[in-house]
Amino acid sequence: MNAASKIAMVTGANNGIGFETTIGLAEAGFHVVMACRSPEKAEAAKAKVSERVASASLDIVLVDLSDLASVRACAGAFRAQYSKLDVLINNAGILLYSAQSNAAGVELQFATNHLGHFLLTALLIDLIPDEPASRIVSLSSIAHKAASIHFDDLSCGGDGGTAYGQSKLACLLFGDELDRRLRAAGRQMKSLSVHPGGSDSGLFDSMGDAERNAMKKQVEQFLHSNADAAKPSLHAALSADVAGGDFYGPTGPQEMSGSLGPASRNPICNDLAVASRLWRVSEQMTGVTFAFQGTDNGSRKRV
Ligand SMILES: NC(=O)c1ccc[n+]([C@@H]2O[C@H](COP(=O)([O-])OP(=O)(O)OC[C@H]3O[C@@H](n4cnc5c(N)ncnc54)[C@H](OP(=O)(O)O)[C@@H]3O)[C@@H](O)[C@H]2O)c1
Repeated sequence: MNAASKIAMVTGANNGIGFETTIGLAEAGFHVVMACRSPEKAEAAKAKVSERVASASLDIVLVDLSDLASVRACAGAFRAQYSKLDVLINNAGILLYSAQSNAAGVELQFATNHLGHFLLTALLIDLIPDEPASRIVSLSSIAHKAASIHFDDLSCGGDGGTAYGQSKLACLLFGDELDRRLRAAGRQMKSLSVHPGGSDSGLFDSMGDAERNAMKKQVEQFLHSNADAAKPSLHAALSADVAGGDFYGPTGPQEMSGSLGPASRNPICNDLAVASRLWRVSEQMTGVTFAFQGTDNGSRKRV
């Protein structure tokens, strides 16, 4: 890495969409910090990125996003080595078919997909230069559309699929609310959200083989590659032609694949009280507040 390099962090960089996002950022000349939970998988992925992009400048930082202490250690390790972060891609995610909790008893998908990224962003945001090119990108999913935030039971009664949708709605609500708060504080960096459509990544590994094959048969014709699924993230991170608060995804059949464009949101995203409540709950659950002044939009609705 030379001193002038732009620095990106990609969570879940060792596989699937995060891996392809790392490739795209390395091709664009970024020094990419691969935030992964398995050192072995991270090293193997780093070697593979270097095979595909000879000029790649890469580093690894370890993080288990389901564990707040690990997220704090990751942010500390990053801060010990780097003095800025230009692009943060909150990509890592899990999809579960049965109820699971982290060690603190929090539903595992909410903890990993949302809370871990909420905390990581809060702990690193002061390193992000306040420039229009600086980006925080949140990965949502089409699954957010049928979801709501079950504030009174974040475990969603143990229903893994419902909890996945909830966690991906939380990612989008967070991305939107972060952008509103950045604007309210007069900041120039951008928070954007994306969904990748559908790709056959490691996300479905927790499914049994029979279930997975049956599901694949149903949706296979709509799926695209992990490289195509990474395009919304790369667009959000790299394009000069985006605005804070934008939400991108593929625009083909069922929004599973096809050319990139604006994505449609669950109408819940228009209820700013929900986003604001999620923000407060996330602060309480992570014990962190963001280091910039923003307004609490809780009583307003987006028009
Ligand atoms: N593929 C799709 O069709 C699809 C559709 C909608 C949204 N998405 C979203 O796209 C994002 C990327 O998923 P993917 O499809 O590329 O899945 P993937 O191939 O399973 O990759 C997920 C990545 O997240 C990492 N990860 C999982 N739990 C973690 C934890 N506790 N701490 C740190 N890292 C963790 C995984 O690490 P390990 O390798 O160690 O497990 C892996 O690197 C996710 O946010 C997912 O919700 C995907």
